[in-house]
Amino acid sequence: MIRKSAWVGGVVLAWTAIGCGSEVEPGEILAPAAPPLTAKVRVTAKQSIGLALFSDTNLSSPAGQACASCHTLSHGAADPDSGIPTSEGAVAGRFGNRNTPTAFYARYSPPFHYDADGETYVGGQFWDGRASSLEDQAKGPFLNPIEMNNASKAAVVAKVKSSSYAPTFKQVYGGNVFADVNAAYDDIADAIATFERMPSFAPFNSRYDAYLAGTGTLTAQEMSGLALFEDPAKGNCSACHPSRASTDGTPPLFTDFTYDNLGIPKNPNNPFYTMPAQFNPAGAGFVDHGLAGALGDPAQDGRFKVSTLRNLGKTGPYGHNGYFQDLHTVVDFYNTRDVSAWPAAEIPATVNHDELGNLGLTAQEVDDIVAFLGTLDDRTSDP
Ligand code: HEC
Ligand code: HEC
Repeated sequence: MIRKSAWVGGVVLAWTAIGCGSEVEPGEILAPAAPPLTAKVRVTAKQSIGLALFSDTNLSSPAGQACASCHTLSHGAADPDSGIPTSEGAVAGRFGNRNTPTAFYARYSPPFHYDADGETYVGGQFWDGRASSLEDQAKGPFLNPIEMNNASKAAVVAKVKSSSYAPTFKQVYGGNVFADVNAAYDDIADAIATFERMPSFAPFNSRYDAYLAGTGTLTAQEMSGLALFEDPAKGNCSACHPSRASTDGTPPLFTDFTYDNLGIPKNPNNPFYTMPAQFNPAGAGFVDHGLAGALGDPAQDGRFKVSTLRNLGKTGPYGHNGYFQDLHTVVDFYNTRDVSAWPAAEIPATVNHDELGNLGLTAQEVDDIVAFLGTLDDRTSDP
């Protein structure tokens, strides 16, 4: 069930080899995701603890699954496409209900809040924003029975206490850190979030970044795709997936972290429908209410967080339920949802018909947008 055991194992092995000084040079560990690719990245002790925790396959029950198993660094920190739209947990045969998003660029999602001007919710972690910060988010998977399946915080803390990196953990968080389970669990989340805020998690080194910086070029087709992507009368994609640097100079994230209902149909291939009642009481009748589920507010029914479009080449399938196998189908859907024979939306009432569903793009224009999306993959190499 662990699809990337070699890579995960490689990280753990390399970690063991580098020891526990206050500063370590992970070299090939972080290099795949770090700009420039050949640089050795100096990491602080706290960051190195975060890396160790993120990659430690002992922190599941049964052992075998790390955060990095579903957020594989060489795959844009998403799940390598196994042909199944959602990810399998540490217990074989247990699947979650949603497609694993990339953890790259997640640090830029602001704390979950309501923006009165834009009349929309913004930010948070997960497809439905139910964790406000990276720290909150990191506390979830260890205890989730369909993910890493530990019985308790104490069980997770005990595993960290007996790990090879425990001495560094104590060095960073204090010699008595393991005495208080809740505090130690918070520290585990703190270290993971610190790791996820490293530049390696937001490389900004795609061909499009080079184009914006004036150090690279796009093909004529990609340029056409960019124009269509930004044209309000054509793709209008940048209305929700901004494609230019923000006012503070941050390169474009390709998400404004707002929420919307695209009208994505149910995905009949989602293995969650057949999970036992313990995990899915509604069985085949399961409906994913997205933001409404997190907030208990029916007005938000079916809305999900706008995805970043960086690294799409490595993060398929697409959509919160993995409904779309390829990018061409996604753009086709935006283009013809309301004028062609697509299956019904899972939640019809709140579907956005103003900005998408009937874009009137030609087949060539759809191809051009897809070509442009291909310029957004960061230059990360497989280990
Ligand atoms: C079994 C696969 C799996 C494992 C293991 C896993 N995740 Fe995830 N992760 C997911 C899925 C699926 C989601 C989306 C869930 C949702 O929205 O309800 C997600 C969401 C996230 C997000 C939010 C990204 C965003 O843009 O909203 C972050 C960050 C993240 N995970 C980090 C972690 C960390 C840290 C760990 C280890 C403590 C971890 N994950 C373990 C599958 C996994
Ligand atoms: C009104 C806002 C809005 C507009 C306009 C918009 N999108 Fe999106 N996009 C979203 C939301 C919200 C999601 C996530 C929806 C979900 O999975 O339920 C998304 C998801 C995607 C995904 C899937 C990403 C993934 O990792 O699963 C792609 C690809 C995408 N959009 C491309 C585009 C393109 C290309 C256009 C223009 C033709 C566009 N979007 C226009 C809001 C928008």
